[in-house]
Amino acid sequence: MITFDKSLSSGDDSMRNLPLFETPKEIADQFNPDADVVLYQGDVNELIATIPDDSVALVVTSPPYNLGKDYEDRVSIEKYLEAQTQVIAQLYRILRDDGSICWQVGNFVQDGEVYPLDILYYSIFKKLNLFLRNRIVWHFGHGLHASKRFSGRYETILWFTKSDKYIFNLDAVRVPSKYPGKRHYKGPNVGKPSGNPLGKNPSDVWEVLLRDWEEALWDIPNVKSNHPEKTIHPCQYPVELVERCVLALTNEGDWVFDPYAGVGTSLIAAVMHHRRAMGSEKEAQYVDIANQRLAAYFNGTLNVRPMGKPVFVPTGKEKVSQIPEEWKAQPQRTLLQKKRKYK
Ligand SMILES: C[S@@+](CC[C@H](N)C(=O)[O-])C[C@H]1O[C@@H](n2cnc3c(N)ncnc32)[C@H](O)[C@@H]1O
Repeated sequence: MITFDKSLSSGDDSMRNLPLFETPKEIADQFNPDADVVLYQGDVNELIATIPDDSVALVVTSPPYNLGKDYEDRVSIEKYLEAQTQVIAQLYRILRDDGSICWQVGNFVQDGEVYPLDILYYSIFKKLNLFLRNRIVWHFGHGLHASKRFSGRYETILWFTKSDKYIFNLDAVRVPSKYPGKRHYKGPNVGKPSGNPLGKNPSDVWEVLLRDWEEALWDIPNVKSNHPEKTIHPCQYPVELVERCVLALTNEGDWVFDPYAGVGTSLIAAVMHHRRAMGSEKEAQYVDIANQRLAAYFNGTLNVRPMGKPVFVPTGKEKVSQIPEEWKAQPQRTLLQKKRKYK
């Protein structure tokens, strides 16, 4: 059990890196129905076995992709899916009737062949009679450059609900509309604004960013050492991605559970919005970092990328945006370069 010293926080809730809970928090290291945060170090099945039926409002996670990362042993795709089927059946058991599962995945790649994991997972969820509400495309601008296929620039989130009576707080996640001044041009509301004053539905394509990390990768001065969220974890997702799920699909005080918690990103997104947070993670080093990030959050020192911060658009003046001198002498090779005037 870890406790936090809240005396370090300034109490200004307008800052996103400040705690929102009223009292000093403790992190329980095993399931405790009275805890606000539970972070279990060990196998996901061990923690789930201790969680009562119908208790979790949202399961949100990015499971291991079976890619042979540091934290996983690569097995056949069949074995991998079999193990995941067992876990998902237990997640179904602990999910509340009005609850949701958000399963964030990319591709499994073997011998150059791509296996889209969301398609493979779909039937596992359907067999449990879960209902797909959205297949959300998470688009990001940076990644590996493929040479034998197009470079992958999106992953997906499958959002399933357990029933038809699910929580969906659309107003909590509306985004500014492009044309708020639009008005009805006919019908009974003619002349009145046609949009919603709170903004528009964010749609099922999310430009939630690794942007600051991308800037860091581009080596733009002062960002590399300052980018807000990145840790040593090879597959960390941004807090902002989870925040949207938490805000839309749960209410304050609800349990949010990440069975593959990594460095605690989902737990941070949950506590930031007054939800109770629970996670399991088998690697002790990631659990340590998750504990440190949560401590930093409660102490008011965790830096989190602001939700909805606009995408960075290069001005063309950055060194990395400019065509290298040595290429200018070469014959123009791409359509883009043909269109673009060398200066
Ligand atoms: C894709 S990463 C999740 C990263 C996380 N979303 C974050 O932002 O930090 C998957 C995590 O699942 C953990 N993991 C894999 N198998 C596990 C198991 N059986 N029980 C608990 N954790 C497991 C891995 O160690 C890894 O950290």
